Amino acid sequence: MAATGHSAHASKPAKARRTRRTGRRDPLAVTMLKKDHREVQDWFDEYEQLDKEGEKLALFRKIALALKVHTRIEEEIFYPAERGEVEDDMLDEAYVEHDGAKKLIAEIEAMQPGDEFYDAKVKVLGEYIKHHVKEEEQPGGLFAQAKKGDEDLEAMGERLKARKEELMAEMGGAAKAKSAH
Ligand SMILES: [Fe+2]
Ligand SMILES: [Fe+2]
Repeated sequence: MAATGHSAHASKPAKARRTRRTGRRDPLAVTMLKKDHREVQDWFDEYEQLDKEGEKLALFRKIALALKVHTRIEEEIFYPAERGEVEDDMLDEAYVEHDGAKKLIAEIEAMQPGDEFYDAKVKVLGEYIKHHVKEEEQPGGLFAQAKKGDEDLEAMGERLKARKEELMAEMGGAAKAKSAH
């Protein structure tokens, strides 16, 4: 007989948003990787609003470059440093998900926006990335486990930032040269 005047109120607690703000500041490595996630997710949303093929192609190129650079810095710096700090299975799955995303990106890059399934592939890539981001950011996920580990995630953040700048210049420059032809 727990029913009281308060129970109806208490039965529907406000759903806490835990990913964006937990009250505690994230270390730099996590902050910057999360920022990359938000940016690319916004671009996938933006893509859905586009009708013109030229705009779709330009935005997809931006998405592809961002994803290539992001997965690369995670694979070069973040994931190897976290081996031993986070669950092996979780880390293995993250690498496999990156590979899946890269294959899909390569397929889309070989197509034109007017082609059959182009939009569908971009949409599926977006959903795939959303899933992967969740695995990284959710409570108990990769980032949460990394934060509990011994790695200095502030110093790592600096390394991630520097490498990201390098790769953006390298790969972004190459993409521009290609699109000029
Ligand atoms: Fe990530
Ligand atoms: Fe990742």
